[in-house]
Amino acid sequence: MTTPITITATETDLDALAGADGKLAILVTPDGKLDQAARRINRLTKGAVARLIASEQWEKLKSGEGYVMGFPVGLAAEALCVTKLDRRPSVTEARKAGAELAKFKGDAGLILAAANQGKMRDVALGLTLRAYAFSDHKTEDQKPAQAATLMVNKPDDLTEDLAQVAALAEGVFFTRDLVAEPSNILTTQEFADRLEALRDLGLFVEVLEEDALEALGMGALLGVGQGSDSPTKLAVMQWNGGGDEAPLALVGKGVVFDTGGISIKPAAGMEDMTMDMGGAGVVAGVMRTLALRKARANVVGLVGLVENMPDGRAQRPGDVVTSMKGDTIEVINTDAEGRLVLADVLWYAQDRFAPSAIVDLATLTGAIIIGLGHDNAGVFGNDDAFANRFLKSAAAEGEGAWRMPLGESYDKLIKSQVADMKNVGGRAAGSITAAQFLQRFIKEGCPWIHLDIAGVAKVTTETALAPKGATGWGVLALDRMIRDGYEAE
Ligand code: BES
Ligand code: MN
Ligand code: ZN
Repeated sequence: MTTPITITATETDLDALAGADGKLAILVTPDGKLDQAARRINRLTKGAVARLIASEQWEKLKSGEGYVMGFPVGLAAEALCVTKLDRRPSVTEARKAGAELAKFKGDAGLILAAANQGKMRDVALGLTLRAYAFSDHKTEDQKPAQAATLMVNKPDDLTEDLAQVAALAEGVFFTRDLVAEPSNILTTQEFADRLEALRDLGLFVEVLEEDALEALGMGALLGVGQGSDSPTKLAVMQWNGGGDEAPLALVGKGVVFDTGGISIKPAAGMEDMTMDMGGAGVVAGVMRTLALRKARANVVGLVGLVENMPDGRAQRPGDVVTSMKGDTIEVINTDAEGRLVLADVLWYAQDRFAPSAIVDLATLTGAIIIGLGHDNAGVFGNDDAFANRFLKSAAAEGEGAWRMPLGESYDKLIKSQVADMKNVGGRAAGSITAAQFLQRFIKEGCPWIHLDIAGVAKVTTETALAPKGATGWGVLALDRMIRDGYEAE
């Protein structure tokens, strides 16, 4: 488990700044008006800060960006970062300022002197999220616990904000760790164990095993795991922090490894399929955050945990399976397994919880990467108001999301000769036909959105708030949507 950096707020101690070791950072507004802390540092460095602010380099910096001076004269610190930040920065700018400090921070401690700068919550969040590194399997690169101090005028005002930041970061890190973990370690059993450990936070967690899934008639889900030695499981996590209203359901695809099955994938890049449980990872991360911040909402998270392997017992192209709903599915391509997993989990979620709305998340199609790349997840849905609420939350959190269409003409593409539907619709509109398939398992009148996160769950370049690798995309947006739409004040 990667633990987030510990951030503490203390009162600004102007005298301590000279002797602070490690790294030191100050926030300065673009116009260069220095606050108390910056003035003190400027004096100690014999005017270096003022000279920087008068320089062309400073001109070039955007709000949220910083300039690093090594071994500054007059200070004990090994480096000083002067960060440019508007008096009233946008959320993105404030998080960027924090994220830049995370990169600057390196191994040594960080002290950020901020006097009375606004949006410290977002600076702290940016710093925390960007300081993540997945180093569990590097024998020589074990990061010590990290810590930073924020020197502000009213530290008590920040206590609640910092607790919220820690709750968010722990959720995002939980997701990132799950997505980054290789599949020989993150088996369906290990995944279920990590979810069961969430009971310590007050979540009600159940894990349904294969015999129970069979009794429920989950032929679609079970067919996917038939060729694997890892048993298929369905984990249910309930957070009941609200009144007695129906819960919001979050449903995740948890394919711990996707070889494609008998319709096996090409060797090149197959290792990426360790992240095919990304949807389940986001659901787990959100549930963790909700529990940590004791959200006043009812939310249930359901994840189908399964491995898609070729084997003598694996399902074949052409097989017909019967879903829990009762609809039959012709499995044309065993690599279109995510929708088979979700079909049964979605139906179970509605059957058992009658949720007020459903969000499903899945690394569902390569086609969504062709369409939207790595900057936006695809957002599908049967309810414009609900989809727009999610889009608004995602925009507020800086998580890319783009609405995609559904429609009857697309639905026709998954008609089957032998069963009620087939699991692929051909090359055209691959992400949409996958979503159409899912919609067949959504009951009339239940608001639903499907988030295809294949392009955003894990990326090969760093993002604003994450090093390259697992992003935790969606945890912030869903937490915000729940906070804004499902919680009592
Ligand atoms: N897990 C994949 C989708 C995927 C691709 C996720 C790349 C992340 C990165 C999914 O199970 C899959 O294999 N989809 C197929 C569907 C096809 C057979 C209709 C695909 O996208 O090629
Ligand atoms: Mn697949
Ligand atoms: Zn898959």
